[in-house]
Amino acid sequence: MYEEAWVPSKIFKDESKLQPEYIPKRLLHRDEQMKALEEYFRPFLQKPGSIFVRVVFVGPSGTGKTAVARKFGERVNGLRARDGSVIRFAYVNCHANRTLFSIMQKVGRDLGLDVPRRGYSREELIYMIWNHLKGAKEYLIAAIDEVDYLAGVEGGEALYVLTRLPEITGDTVFRVGLIFVFRELGSFFRLDRSIQSTLQHNVIKFEPYTRAQLADILWARVVEEGALYESAVSDEVIDMIAELIGYDTGGRGDARQALEVLEKAGKIAEREGRSVILPEDVREAYSKVMPISRDVIANLKLDEKLLLLALARLLQRKRFVSKVPIGLLELEYQEVCEEFGVEPKRHTAVWDYVRNLHRMGIVTAERSGKGQRGRTTFVGLSAIPLQELERELILMIRRALKRGGGRSE
Ligand SMILES: Nc1ncnc2c1ncn2[C@@H]1O[C@H](COP(=O)(O)OP(=O)(O)OP(=O)(O)O)[C@@H](O)[C@H]1O
Ligand SMILES: [Mg+2]
Repeated sequence: MYEEAWVPSKIFKDESKLQPEYIPKRLLHRDEQMKALEEYFRPFLQKPGSIFVRVVFVGPSGTGKTAVARKFGERVNGLRARDGSVIRFAYVNCHANRTLFSIMQKVGRDLGLDVPRRGYSREELIYMIWNHLKGAKEYLIAAIDEVDYLAGVEGGEALYVLTRLPEITGDTVFRVGLIFVFRELGSFFRLDRSIQSTLQHNVIKFEPYTRAQLADILWARVVEEGALYESAVSDEVIDMIAELIGYDTGGRGDARQALEVLEKAGKIAEREGRSVILPEDVREAYSKVMPISRDVIANLKLDEKLLLLALARLLQRKRFVSKVPIGLLELEYQEVCEEFGVEPKRHTAVWDYVRNLHRMGIVTAERSGKGQRGRTTFVGLSAIPLQELERELILMIRRALKRGGGRSE
């Protein structure tokens, strides 16, 4: 088993280039979005502070929203304007940073500030960042990713504050420009009217990728990026993945899913000792790819991961039902906690976890149960291969416990 680490792969040249965090040199078929974004920010970049830019990205999973935002960030970070001021970029994922306070902490850290963990109010934190920007003659562009989550918390109050930052700081200079990334238009419309109206003008749409576009993206990962040996893949295999996932051929048009299938297929071929990926590997890989991305799960808190693991196990055991009552889930959760030597959280916290996971679209939760002993909430997992999920979660939980921390960032 340990030998594997030293035997060079016949399939992968550089596997890190298939990971969801990796930003490729070129983002294919996203010129339009990138241009629109640059257009919106042009006045801010030319004369920093002159206008308050707020841009909204909307599009389903794996359509390149995060990639475009980060790529733009790479380009603008450190840019020096004519007046000598410097543009800085910050990136916040709202699944990892779920309150305004925590969002501002991440922004502060990205600016290189020594941010206090506690003892400050969120307003003080905002002033601290503002003072830094002012003093250092810096202007900030911040991408706030996975905003759908924020929109569902307290009527989007945190989001409201963000869209009004200049008024709150009382500054006439617009030191911050914002990119808000939404997955669903629905959560955008659930927002307060006044937030909607400040945001609705600068919306950039991300459409699911077509089969041909996905084939281009996959090939670029192989040829331009060198993630796999060219000899390990064929037109046949790439086209097969592109067709399975292409929006125009009935798939979700999700580039992350396509890259994951390619990676998994490569692993299967490798495991069989082959140097070429075959269509059969693609079929097997496709059946195992999770519709929810690994990074969404990686961002969960330790207790949420434990709860999700409990749910995955329960549903595997109860093969004939698709959802389980929350009371049963709580019992299983306590057992899972015991197994990993973690103190289980109390009943009310378990409820909060379910609500959060529901909000993130990971679990389903509905109240039902006619009559018998009142109504209770049933929790289910939509369309995720349970074994795969269980395996992934155990790895993540073990890693988190080893690090001694709950959450990955
Ligand atoms: N146009 C593209 N060219 C190359 N790679 C891409 C492109 N679009 C997306 N990808 C890759 O696909 C994966 C998913 O993209 P990304 O994370 O940007 O999706 P997303 O729209 O933010 O999805 P989600 O809503 O689930 O967060 C990433 O690994 C990214 O590098
Ligand atoms: Mg994203």
